[in-house]
Amino acid sequence: MYRSQKLALHYFAAAVIFFGVMTLFGLLSALYYLYPSMLFHTFDFQMSKIMHIDTLVIWLLMGMLGAVYWFLPKELGREVKGIWLAEILFWVFCAAVVVVALVFLFVQYGSSDQFSMWFINQGRKYVEAPRWAAIGIVIVMLVFAYNVIGTAIATRRMTGILWVLCIDLVPLCLVYLDAFPQFTNMSVDLYWWWWLVHMWVEGTWEVLIGCIMAWMLMEVAGTSRRIVETWLYIEVMLVLGAGILGLGHHYFWIGTPQYWLSIGGFFSALEPLPLLGMVVHAIYDAGTHHLKTTNQPGFYWITAEAFGNFIGAGVWGFMMTLPQINLFSHGTQWTVSHGHFAFWGAYACGVIAVLYVAKQKTSGIDYLSGRAWKWGFGLLNFGMLGMVMGLLLAGMAQAFYGRAMGGSTLMAFTQSSENPWFVSGMWARTGFGVVFALGYIVLVYDLVTATRRMPKAVAPPEPA
Ligand code: HEM
Ligand code: HEM
Ligand SMILES: [Fe+2]
Repeated sequence: MYRSQKLALHYFAAAVIFFGVMTLFGLLSALYYLYPSMLFHTFDFQMSKIMHIDTLVIWLLMGMLGAVYWFLPKELGREVKGIWLAEILFWVFCAAVVVVALVFLFVQYGSSDQFSMWFINQGRKYVEAPRWAAIGIVIVMLVFAYNVIGTAIATRRMTGILWVLCIDLVPLCLVYLDAFPQFTNMSVDLYWWWWLVHMWVEGTWEVLIGCIMAWMLMEVAGTSRRIVETWLYIEVMLVLGAGILGLGHHYFWIGTPQYWLSIGGFFSALEPLPLLGMVVHAIYDAGTHHLKTTNQPGFYWITAEAFGNFIGAGVWGFMMTLPQINLFSHGTQWTVSHGHFAFWGAYACGVIAVLYVAKQKTSGIDYLSGRAWKWGFGLLNFGMLGMVMGLLLAGMAQAFYGRAMGGSTLMAFTQSSENPWFVSGMWARTGFGVVFALGYIVLVYDLVTATRRMPKAVAPPEPA
């Protein structure tokens, strides 16, 4: 095994741990909707939610970095350049995440000054980490970019997947820098913040996971490089073609000029196309290989990724991307339903698939038949689907009663939060959240103990 792959295993372990922390704080956040005065002024909802969504970004990022460190040396047949630097930074990265988490848990707030921004909380959703930590993430990403590009230059060889990956790394690092400038005008501030959030999840991350899925298809389904690379080019072109101006679907109501209504509506309505392409691609590959695979969990999870990405991001996003509908659905639990489904489908399922490939390679398990992993797969996806449906129900109640009928007043908002449909949606989300958490426990149990539960190899009979 290459050193880079050992580093990948470290990243995977860290990703699984932060996935657990995320799930814990997701459940806690859900409880505030049922018991609003819970932990009042000790640990408020917003801090719990920050812990939930920041660890989400971190574990997915770590999972994807791990996936690249896993596949890169295989792709080029050599050790990754500057791997020692990446190894050191892994520990720095983990330590930084822990320090930030402790600050969020115990310090929580600061007064609105430079000190708070540098050491406590930057106050921007998803990227709340204080500025010192944000700079740390930039350094990790720059070293990662150096690892990838440096290895390609050192071998003097490029593959199609690598070209896409290398080119993607430039905007991936650049849009993150968007989280840095400070603006006192809130519209301007949100304008640039959306560049980061939207361009990551609907642009650069989508391309990154596309590269990882291309490697995964070759690995678990035996698809030929020619086929995965051709599809990758088509998908990337479509993602960028629709996704860049699709940014406009976040500019409807934040004080930007009116032309964003049509630009955002039109281009973001096209965004499901590449995602549909990915599903067609997966089905096509499965068909040409008669569903044969040597790693069943890996195969199940990439299939879940293809469908989850299309339905969660594409269909759920499309539902509320036209300004005529977004006017009512904006910022309700409907959005939260899409947020969960999309992140789960597009990224989480893909990262879990890679975990199973790494597991098979390191422990030599033949993943041909059912084991605990099927329970993990079932509970996690069933729990997530239940949560998504509960949230959709709650969000539609808010849109219909609070917005359309109630006229978006504060009173209507409060009343819609007491509406029986909304309340049952919140209970359903919490219940299915528990199912999801059980699935997480089974997943970890399976990943940790799978070797030990293997039947002992039978010794060959002694020659007579
Ligand atoms: C036990 C499972 C989970 C529970 C109970 C849960 C619960 C929650 C709650 C209560 C919020 C706050 C929503 C609000 O502001 O009203 C939230 C936000 C969020 N969660 Fe989860 N979550 C869970 C798992 C996940 C998973 C697996 C993902 C992604 C893979 C995820 C992604 C998100 C995102 C992206 C947001 C922000 C959404 C938005 O503000 O629109 N969560 N979650
Ligand atoms: C992997 C891809 C995607 C992910 C992970 C994702 C995730 C999210 C999240 C977390 C939010 C909530 C942001 C916030 O307010 O905090 C959001 C909002 C939104 N997404 Fe997506 N999304 C994806 C793709 C798409 C696509 C393809 C479309 C449209 C076709 C779309 C349409 C929207 C719209 C319109 C909103 C704003 C909702 C509102 O006004 O409240 N998304 N997305
Ligand atoms: Fe977006």
